[in-house]
Amino acid sequence: MALHPPPTPLSSTSPSSLTSPPQNARHPSKILRLRPRRPNRHHPPSPIPQPDQYLIAIHATATNFFDLLQIRGKYQHQPPLPWISGFEFSGVILSTPSSNLNPRFKKGDKVFGASQGGYATQVCAREEALRHVPKGWSFVDAAGLMVTAPTSYAALVTRAGMKKGDYVLIHAAAGGVGLAAVQVAKAFGAIVIATAGSKRKLEVAKGYGADYCVDYNTPKWEEEVKKLTPKGRGVDIVFDPVGMVNTSLKCTAWNGRIVVVGFAAGNIEKVAMNRVLLKNVSLVGLHWGMYAREEVESVGVVWKGLFDLMEQGKFRGTVYGDRQFSGLENVGEALGMLGRRETWGKVVVAVPQEGGSKL
Ligand SMILES: NC(=O)c1ccc[n+]([C@@H]2O[C@H](COP(=O)([O-])OP(=O)(O)OC[C@H]3O[C@@H](n4cnc5c(N)ncnc54)[C@H](OP(=O)(O)O)[C@@H]3O)[C@@H](O)[C@H]2O)c1
Repeated sequence: MALHPPPTPLSSTSPSSLTSPPQNARHPSKILRLRPRRPNRHHPPSPIPQPDQYLIAIHATATNFFDLLQIRGKYQHQPPLPWISGFEFSGVILSTPSSNLNPRFKKGDKVFGASQGGYATQVCAREEALRHVPKGWSFVDAAGLMVTAPTSYAALVTRAGMKKGDYVLIHAAAGGVGLAAVQVAKAFGAIVIATAGSKRKLEVAKGYGADYCVDYNTPKWEEEVKKLTPKGRGVDIVFDPVGMVNTSLKCTAWNGRIVVVGFAAGNIEKVAMNRVLLKNVSLVGLHWGMYAREEVESVGVVWKGLFDLMEQGKFRGTVYGDRQFSGLENVGEALGMLGRRETWGKVVVAVPQEGGSKL
C-alpha cells in the first residue's frame, strides 16, 4: 500500500483525472492525444498538450514506489488503458499552454514536475505541476523533487510543528522521503535519529546529516532510540513512511507527535490507542497530494520553505549514486532495484536527448 499525491490538479493527466471520464475509455486515442506522425522506435509519438498544458522534453525521470503498484494494477489511481507509467521528471519547456497569455514558464525554461507519463521523452503538464529547476541543480538531481521533498517538509514542519532542539526519529531514513526528512530536520536544528535496514543505508543517512543511526531490524531497537534521548524520555517527533507506529510509541516522549506518511512495509497498522492516550501523543497523517485540492495556500508556503533551504545549501539532491541509469530502456531495472530495496534516495534515470550521448 502506498500513498502519494496524484489525486489532483497536478495535471489533467494525473492518475486520478485519468480514471474519471468513462466515455474516454471507449476512445483511447482521445486520452493520450498522440500526434499521428508515423511513430517508430526512434521517433515515438509526441503527446499533444491540452490548452492549459505545457509540453516538456524530459531530460531525467525519477522512480517511485507507487509506479510499481500502478504497473501491477494495484494502485488506488489506475488510469484507463492505454497509459504511460512514470510521474516525476525534469526537463525543458517545448511549448506553453495555448489558453494562457501570461505563462509562468517560457519556452526553453528548465523545470521539474509531476504528471502521469514520466517514463517517456515528452510529457504534458499543467502549470501548478511544475517548478523551475533550482539554480545549480542538474536535471538528474531535480527530477525527484516534486513529490518527495514537499512531503517530508510538510510532514515535519506543517504537521508536526518541528522546532529547534526536537529529537526526531526518521524511519527508512535512506529512502526517498526519508533522506529529504533528514535534511529538513537538520536544517530546523533538530537532533535526528535515523533508522534503516542495512549498514550501507545507515551510512547514507549519516552522510546527509543524521546525528544517530539505528538498525530497525535489530530486536528492541526502540530501547536503543530511547537511550539516545535526554534521560531516556523518548523522541518528540516520529516520521513514519513504513508503518511502524506501534513500536515507535514505545520510544515516543510525553506530548510526542507521530506523522503517518506511508506504509512501505505493506501493512496498515491497528494502533494501540491506550499508548496514544497515556503519553499525550498526537497522531497525525500527511497526504501531500491532497493539499493542492484541500489547502492550496499551504502548497506555496511549503515550496518557499524548501527553496529557501536549497538556496542556503541546507537541502541537496538525494539521487542514488551507487549505480547510474541512463536511457528509458533502463527504467525497468531501476524500478526492479527500488522494489527489492537495493537502492537509497531517489533512483533517477537520465533521458539522453536525440543525438546526445548516453554517458
Ligand atoms: N503521504 C504522502 O503524501 C506520501 C508522499 C510520497 C510518498 N509516500 C509514501 O511513503 C513511503 C515511502 O516512500 P519513498 O519514496 O521514500 O519510498 P522508497 O524510496 O522506496 O523508500 C522506502 C523505504 O522503506 C523501507 N521499507 C521497509 N519495509 C519495506 C518493504 N517491505 N518494502 C519496501 N521498502 C520497505 C526501505 O528502507 P530499508 O531497506 O532501510 O528498510 C525503503 O528504503 C511509500 O509508502 C510512499 O507511497 C507518501
